[in-house]
Amino acid sequence: MSFREMLDGLPIPILQAPMAGAVFDAMTIAVSRAGAMGNLPVTGVAPEDIGAAVDAIRAQTDAPFGANLLMAPPLKPEPAELDVALARLAAWYAELGLEVPDHPNRFSHDFDAQLAALTRAAPTVASFAFSILTRAQVDALHAAGSYVLGTANTVAEAIAWAEVGADGICAQGFEAGGHHAYFLEDIEASSVGTMALVATVLQAVALPVIAAGGIMDGKGVAAALALGASAVQMGSAFLLADEAIVGPVWQQAIRDAPSDATRLTRAFSGRYARGLENRFVREMRAVQEDVPPYPVQNRLTQAMRAAANKAGDPELMSLWAGQAVKLAQAGASGDMVKLWWAQAQETAQALAKSTAQRGGAA
Ligand SMILES: Cc1cc2nc3c(=O)[nH]c(=O)nc-3n(C[C@H](O)[C@H](O)[C@H](O)COP(=O)(O)O)c2cc1C
Repeated sequence: MSFREMLDGLPIPILQAPMAGAVFDAMTIAVSRAGAMGNLPVTGVAPEDIGAAVDAIRAQTDAPFGANLLMAPPLKPEPAELDVALARLAAWYAELGLEVPDHPNRFSHDFDAQLAALTRAAPTVASFAFSILTRAQVDALHAAGSYVLGTANTVAEAIAWAEVGADGICAQGFEAGGHHAYFLEDIEASSVGTMALVATVLQAVALPVIAAGGIMDGKGVAAALALGASAVQMGSAFLLADEAIVGPVWQQAIRDAPSDATRLTRAFSGRYARGLENRFVREMRAVQEDVPPYPVQNRLTQAMRAAANKAGDPELMSLWAGQAVKLAQAGASGDMVKLWWAQAQETAQALAKSTAQRGGAA
């Protein structure tokens, strides 16, 4: 079966975004059981535990599901570079009553080992962001029985994924919450809105395109399908869901946020990501280009973010959220995807009626 046929066979053409730190197995299972497709983020899972994490989903549902890795480069920063980066964070740690952490032994799990484990685990769909696999790595995933979904912020990235043999493109627009996937150009050149991105990627590659960024309800789903997307990937829409593992401080910040409250920031992780603007985002803006690249800065701020969460202080936490997060609703994820699909169908019908009524030049 082709990836397109698999997507067309989903009762609900919605992928729940894999969101490291915000969702895990309960949501993946609930969404796949409801007829959409759940996605397990395994970026934070040690290579030796990935097989069991994927098997645990398979044990709970026969429906298709995905698993996702963020591709962290194996950086080994010099001690002096770490000293400078930690000195920049010292005042923030001090606010929380903490010393800056020691130099970490490692900054992320070993990507190659995670990929090998994910390949063995063979989820229905293996998706990736932040870089690109080699053709051999894609071939190995195919041989194991997984479809490969590559995330792109630009047309050039979509073409690159097509060239290594990916089965589909997750076209992640500038609206998207969380980290942005760009890997060929800088953030400015990679900031394309979902509508422009989906349309131009569809023009450039012959693969199914999954639209991500700013889609929060059935009307957004219908709009993306009207553009030609085969499915959508929704992230922020699930942040208040019952199965989300988003803590109360982050959820309250979403509820309290004014409109237009998100910004892209590099300050927390060393890679641009979209979240609610807070004091850390504002005050680090002037130096955000100087912080070490992902995953180094991400690791260096980890204890600060965790301590702020514990202290109930949203100003020092990464509150990832997309531009349309104010539309997020609470509820059971399985019910939410069913509701969104019913809304999408109503929207399509209403639009068909209104366009027919308008008549036209003919
Ligand atoms: C809290 C959060 C965490 C995310 N973590 C991941 C991740 O681990 N892997 C990934 O490929 N995308 C991740 N994303 C991006 C989503 O896959 C998706 O592109 C984005 O949520 C779509 O935009 P939306 O939030 O407006 O729906 C994350 C997004 C959010 C909001």
